[in-house]
Amino acid sequence: MNQKIGVLDSGIGGTTVLKEIIKLLPNEEYVYYADTKNNPYGEKSEEELFNIVSKIVEFLINEKNCKMIVLACNTATTRCMKRLKKEYPNMLFVGTVPAIKVATDHKFKNTLVLATPATIESKRTKELIEVNKKDDQEITLIPCKDLANAIERKDKAKIKSILLDLRKKIKDKKIDSIVLGCTHYSLIKKEIQSYFQDAILLEGAFGVAKEVKRQLTEHHLLNKRGDFQIDYIDSKEEISLR
Ligand code: DGL
Repeated sequence: MNQKIGVLDSGIGGTTVLKEIIKLLPNEEYVYYADTKNNPYGEKSEEELFNIVSKIVEFLINEKNCKMIVLACNTATTRCMKRLKKEYPNMLFVGTVPAIKVATDHKFKNTLVLATPATIESKRTKELIEVNKKDDQEITLIPCKDLANAIERKDKAKIKSILLDLRKKIKDKKIDSIVLGCTHYSLIKKEIQSYFQDAILLEGAFGVAKEVKRQLTEHHLLNKRGDFQIDYIDSKEEISLR
């Protein structure tokens, strides 16, 4: 039996990452775990989130024969990745972090980072800014409470009101780039762009896909001739994880 690539998120957001991985690796078998039961991740404590995510990781390793696990979720990555790598040293992990390095490398001067409250508060996000930001660059962090959950529920009115508040908060400050620091936000790019017409939207999905390919190649785990397959699991419908 072929080993699979496990991809997880608190719902539909991670499908934006999965799509990019599939484009690069069309001969792999995938398990997509949408943890809708525990959405939103971005408003949970670090301990609570680690307990949730590590149960899914164990399920993907023990029940689904995964060779790699992709955290297609900025919140799970910025809060749990270091500990996951320590506790599961034999598993390959790839994470998704806000594309702050992409913004600074492209020399943008005024970047907004939109992400969940947990990602914004995380040490990892602070590190990304410390390491990459130059003196002439400004980075404004905006916690978007409730936005991922509104996207998950396809609540258009709520999405609109959150974006409207955000636009008001930024006033007439010139913004040249926006980092979509939550995978759910990639699903409403058009809406975000309509409020910030001059800004370039940046996301991490392609970089994640390249890293997945790089690590699988390095470990001789690429499935070059297999048949593409996705096993889609929604935790609301799943009986309890062990
Ligand atoms: N899509 C996730 C992220 O990238 C999680 C959103 C949430 O559940 O709060 O952060």
